[in-house]
Amino acid sequence: MANLEIRIFGDPVLRQRAHEVVDFDDRLATLAADMQETMRAAEGVGLAANQVGVLKRVFTWEAADEDGTGVRGGAVVNPLLTDASEELQDGEEGCLSFPGLFYPLQRPLRVEVRHQDLAGDEHTSRLEGFAARIWLHEMDHLNGILFVDHLARHDRQEALRRMREYAADDQAPQRPGGLLLGRVGR
Ligand code: NI
Repeated sequence: MANLEIRIFGDPVLRQRAHEVVDFDDRLATLAADMQETMRAAEGVGLAANQVGVLKRVFTWEAADEDGTGVRGGAVVNPLLTDASEELQDGEEGCLSFPGLFYPLQRPLRVEVRHQDLAGDEHTSRLEGFAARIWLHEMDHLNGILFVDHLARHDRQEALRRMREYAADDQAPQRPGGLLLGRVGR
């Protein structure tokens, strides 16, 4: 497996729409395994293919269960949001492509998603709480949408200013360690 380079805000690939996966082959399995490894190395809970420069509709995720009894996650292919609750959740959100930034962002509390797995088999998954937040964030990535797009104007302006400073700082770490979409157990 390989640790992939995570693309940082400003890279045009983050604004592109990823394409449907049609070949459920070894290349897809390898991409997913590499993404999972890259996500874990960066202490992330979610990673979309755009973020490693690949325009395929696949993301990986991993997070502790709400009841703290275990960890759920894996690879999700060609996700389609089929339902979202009107009930919202509050929480802080970040992104591996925005090192160190976290802002409050309301999201639906529950979602239902139709998707495929790495073998091409179809599933309908229902997520709640933090898992729902992760899936919504990663599905946005596949459409070129970033979490800062959802922020209140003041937070968005501050986030973009901080990213300009990050880009200008040649002392900034090349790897966005420890910053992703929330942290497991946060
Ligand atoms: Ni992200």
